Amino acid sequence: MVKSTLLLAAACLLVAAEAKEYHTKVVILGGGVSGISAALNLTAAGVTDFMMVEARDILGGRAQDTQFGDVNVELGCNWVQGLGTNPINQLALKYNLSTAFSDSADVQWYGEKGKYNGTEIYNTLDDAFSKVLDIGFEKLQNDEVDISGRVGLDLVGWQPSNAFEEAAEFYYWDWEFGETPELSSTVFAAVNDNWTYSGFGPDGDGNNYVVDQRGFKHIFLEESKKVFKTDADKRLLLNTTVTKIAYNNKGVTVHTSKGDTIHADYAITTFSLGVLQHDDIEWSPALPDWKREGLYGFHMATYTKIFFNFPYQFWDDSQFTVWADPDRRGYMNAWQNLNAPGYFPKNTSTNIFFVTATQDLSYEVENKTDEEVKEEIMVVLRKMYGNDIPEPTHFMFPRWHTNPLFRGSYSNWPIGELDEHHANMKAPLNNRVFFAGEALSTEYFGFLQGAWFTGAKAGVDVALCLKGKCPRAEYYPEITNAKIRANIIHR
Ligand SMILES: Cc1cc2nc3c(=O)[nH]c(=O)nc-3n(C[C@H](O)[C@H](O)[C@H](O)COP(=O)(O)OP(=O)(O)OC[C@H]3O[C@@H](n4cnc5c(N)ncnc54)[C@H](O)[C@@H]3O)c2cc1C
Ligand SMILES: *[C@@H]1O[C@H](CO)[C@@H](O)[C@H](O)[C@H]1NC(C)=O
Ligand SMILES: *[C@@H]1O[C@H](CO)[C@@H](O)[C@H](O)[C@H]1NC(C)=O
Ligand SMILES: *[C@@H]1O[C@H](CO)[C@@H](O)[C@H](O)[C@H]1NC(C)=O
Ligand SMILES: *[C@@H]1O[C@H](CO)[C@@H](O)[C@H](O)[C@H]1NC(C)=O
Ligand SMILES: *[C@@H]1O[C@H](CO)[C@@H](O)[C@H](O)[C@H]1NC(C)=O
Ligand SMILES: *[C@@H]1O[C@H](CO)[C@@H](O)[C@H](O)[C@H]1NC(C)=O
Ligand SMILES: *[C@@H]1O[C@H](CO)[C@@H](O)[C@H](O)[C@H]1NC(C)=O
Repeated sequence: MVKSTLLLAAACLLVAAEAKEYHTKVVILGGGVSGISAALNLTAAGVTDFMMVEARDILGGRAQDTQFGDVNVELGCNWVQGLGTNPINQLALKYNLSTAFSDSADVQWYGEKGKYNGTEIYNTLDDAFSKVLDIGFEKLQNDEVDISGRVGLDLVGWQPSNAFEEAAEFYYWDWEFGETPELSSTVFAAVNDNWTYSGFGPDGDGNNYVVDQRGFKHIFLEESKKVFKTDADKRLLLNTTVTKIAYNNKGVTVHTSKGDTIHADYAITTFSLGVLQHDDIEWSPALPDWKREGLYGFHMATYTKIFFNFPYQFWDDSQFTVWADPDRRGYMNAWQNLNAPGYFPKNTSTNIFFVTATQDLSYEVENKTDEEVKEEIMVVLRKMYGNDIPEPTHFMFPRWHTNPLFRGSYSNWPIGELDEHHANMKAPLNNRVFFAGEALSTEYFGFLQGAWFTGAKAGVDVALCLKGKCPRAEYYPEITNAKIRANIIHR
């Protein structure tokens, strides 16, 4: 008894002795694309007295890859979505990132009875989708309330009634937004599509798939070196998990799982929407309801790539393959062929074919063992290609939803979330805690450019605050039906 008490006391002393206290002007919480962008813009504005805290042992956040067989594959972001003047595309060009032009119309269709020609269905849906986006714009222009993607599709006469139409719909909608049309906003699907695919100049409409063996993260790590020359920079705290953020109108104190504290005049949090929704971080005082409603109301979608490597290729050469499951919409639907021309060089050991799950299917597979998931999907592959296909040599998938540092893959604007809710998600607390990250971009939520732009904006705003010129922040303490805009608060 005495002995264990002594041991406990000794352990406490050890912790106390190791706990460090830091003082800085700005603390950036999270070292993903948004955090790196904030650091770059603070630096550009002449602010060097800042720190960055990141739980992982490397920067990049959701830009992460891993070795799979002989090659590196991307676990998270994979496409440069929107080309032209998109800053992500500009970085890809600057660092000569290897990519393949992605063509979702280069697709083969498989159903219960084998291969089928899905082109007509796909073209009909393509046309319906543009009409839905037109409706979104019209609603925006006329200041009308939102409708779900499903209602939008209904309005333009797209009503899927068989497995082939449902398969095309999943491939077109869910595989992009990470969620069903029922859950998605029509107005903000239009806004999101417009800014990314029409907003980056005449060459902006397209997607490049990153196959670079340095990983997508390479371009962001290279940029981060402009700020932190090495990982030994004293301002960079890797392997450090934030547990609590205390704030008032004088400053911010950040607590870490190691018992360290960081006292700062300002904080920029870039934690994912999923992390903020999951209450992984304790706030003191608790976040106000106007902010919590905005955060909880937004959606963190899960998009899970499930990788197989086979001893040889038995699937088509097309970039994509769709499985139209007869019983369940979206079940093991969208397959990608990394042997397609322009992707990985074909060789004897690398033959990667992978499928993407979203939403409920993602939660289900995350809850199973790798072996169970592999067996389950092999059943589908045998339905598609026959019983003679070989066993995979490698199998792997990331669990984004259960990962406490992400709690999902990327955000999707749901039906029901108003502009005002979103503004509240983004609004700073006491002009001391600023919020950045992909989910906080009205134009580019879900995309890397959303992370990049919101991080830059937070960096610039905090630099202005340090000069006593804090920009006026807008938020809505109450969102009422009548005169929504009359309730705007300026401070
Ligand atoms: C599977 C998948 C596919 C995607 N596909 C694409 C795509 O093709 N194209 C595209 O443009 N975008 C894509 N995205 C989205 C893109 O990856 C994100 O928009 C972007 O990386 C988000 O950057 P961020 O800085 O906002 O957040 P994050 O990258 O999440 O950065 C936040 C950081 O905070 C850290 N952190 C979390 N909790 C703590 C804590 N308690 N203490 C300390 N640190 C903490 C995390 O480790 C992370 O590094 C995809 C994402 C996923 C997951
Ligand atoms: C972080 O932890 C990893 C392993 O847990 C270790 O290899 C690395 O040196 C640590 N890095 C820092 C900067 O503490
Ligand atoms: C860019 O990458 C391509 C293919 O990876 C390579 O052939 C080329 O030499 C590289 N160019 C530069 C300037 O590094
Ligand atoms: C599939 O259908 C489309 C449109 O109906 C047609 O143009 C195309 O030739 C067909 N493809 C094949 C391989 O039959
Ligand atoms: C569409 O994008 C353009 C930029 O290309 C922008 O000027 C315009 O405001 C956007 N429209 C909407 C409704 O978001
Ligand atoms: C297969 O290709 C990958 C990627 O280019 C390469 O790393 C690997 O060494 C190759 N393997 C063989 C057996 O050629
Ligand atoms: C995951 O597994 C747990 C425990 O086995 C169970 O309670 C939960 O309902 C499962 N969730 C899903 C989505 O299957
Ligand atoms: C961030 O810094 C870059 C480089 O200095 C600059 O081009 C960009 O305009 C800045 N972003 C903002 C939002 O000011």
